[in-house]
Amino acid sequence: MITKRVSRFIDSRLGAAKFVRSAMNHVFPDHWSFMLGEVALYCFVILVITGTYLALFFHASSEKVFYHGSYAPLVGQKVSVAFRSMLHISLDVPAGLLIRQMHHWAADIFLWAIVAHLARIFFTAAYRKPRELNWLVGMTLLVLALVNGFFGYSLADDLLSGTGLRVGYSIMLSIPVVGPWLAYLFMGGTVPNPETLPRMYSMHIFLVPALIAGLLVLHLGMIWRQMHTNYPGPKRTNRTIVGSRLWPTYTAKSIGLLLLVFGAVAALGAFAQIDPVWIYGPYDPSATMAGAQPDWYLGWVEGAMRLSPGTNLRLGHWLIPELFFPAVLMPSLVFLTLYLWPFLEKLFSKDEGDQNVLRMPYEQPVKTALGVAVFTFMLVLLTGGADDIISVSLGTSVVELRTILRILVFVAPVCAAGAAYLVCVRLRSSRAASAALTEQLAGLEERRQVAHALREDEEPLLLLPAVSGGAPDAVPDGVQQSKLHAAWKMSESDNP
Ligand code: HEM
Repeated sequence: MITKRVSRFIDSRLGAAKFVRSAMNHVFPDHWSFMLGEVALYCFVILVITGTYLALFFHASSEKVFYHGSYAPLVGQKVSVAFRSMLHISLDVPAGLLIRQMHHWAADIFLWAIVAHLARIFFTAAYRKPRELNWLVGMTLLVLALVNGFFGYSLADDLLSGTGLRVGYSIMLSIPVVGPWLAYLFMGGTVPNPETLPRMYSMHIFLVPALIAGLLVLHLGMIWRQMHTNYPGPKRTNRTIVGSRLWPTYTAKSIGLLLLVFGAVAALGAFAQIDPVWIYGPYDPSATMAGAQPDWYLGWVEGAMRLSPGTNLRLGHWLIPELFFPAVLMPSLVFLTLYLWPFLEKLFSKDEGDQNVLRMPYEQPVKTALGVAVFTFMLVLLTGGADDIISVSLGTSVVELRTILRILVFVAPVCAAGAAYLVCVRLRSSRAASAALTEQLAGLEERRQVAHALREDEEPLLLLPAVSGGAPDAVPDGVQQSKLHAAWKMSESDNP
């Protein structure tokens, strides 16, 4: 009764009922892989909530003080205010360590989910018309997430993060002409300096999250307007979508996923130690630690730096330092190719008009093989980023391991691509054979039914096509399309 009154009150003022009704009928596909984007979304929500709590206690200052807190091994040592506040959060603030660890785990899973989501979009060709713009927005979200991850773990001013910051600073400096300017802009000059932490902190908690939030609204808005794609299957065409309506099925599913993600991140935060800064100790420019590595999502850049031959290039007066090639040029080429992929593919494809039905990876063997090659390349680089730890745990020499990885970085992608190509071609021909058989059987069944009906009564039977009464021929725009889809789906579920 109260709900009815409240909704009438709102509707009489805003006229929202029509929109809400149509929104509740919006259809979402049921396939699990459509949940990967949502996992990323929920991780972002967790990052904002946990980050807000941490911001209440963190002080982004590199001013030096003597530590007199509750962690006995460091009492009396000179540390930065930022590092001291990190120890305070980890050891004294109620639930501080849990929230810190949840924040760090959520960042790692956020990036994992984005990469898995990107792989789903790439391998099923979901970026084709009309979704090219959303691919560009998604790529920018990935870049921003990577950058903010780096800013985040550089803030603690412990020995590990300080080492990472120096590496980041050196990479920036290696960019010809603009490098020193960029280092000055983002880090306030030579690192460490008193400007670095405050500058990165304001970008980490305000600028980049605001950009991510704005782009997310655009990303999800475009999905709403253009509707989702569908995997190929019965009754899935460019004009129809099969799945669950927003209310109640999809909403229940999505809330379940939110709770699962939240539960998993909380469990990891509670039981799996991550970034124990008190063990690493405060940053000291003259020291470094064994096994220093970035978080996994930047491990491939670290690996590229370790595996590259280390040659400076001299062009007249200019010196291009060795770091530039593995840490700037290679990642830039990877990202540029990814950004442009939908447009590059269009040059070679015969697709016309909107493409709302996904293409299975085995239907596009060359592209799948290329994608597998790039992922394998990244995986070898990622392994290279941990070569010291791996060699210690395997008891081998790091030099030998590095030589093997230097060969594998070229050989493994070619082998993986070849294997992926063969698997795709095989799958494609076996699926084509079984589709032809199914079609033949359907034809036989249809003829049998006609013969049977003619025998049973004198009236000839009219056979309707499978999707009669579905969406009309022309669908002018996404909004109308969504209504049609909802109506179509409704008729599906109403007449099982
Ligand atoms: C912060 C990061 C991101 C979040 C939170 C996010 C979220 C989502 C969500 C919830 C969906 C709808 C469900 C689904 O199709 O999986 C989606 C769809 C989509 N996303 Fe993302 N995404 C992110 C990054 C990316 C990236 C890196 C790309 C690719 C470069 C991308 C491209 C797309 C495209 C093209 C669609 C439409 C897919 C379809 O309808 O099949 N997104 N995204």
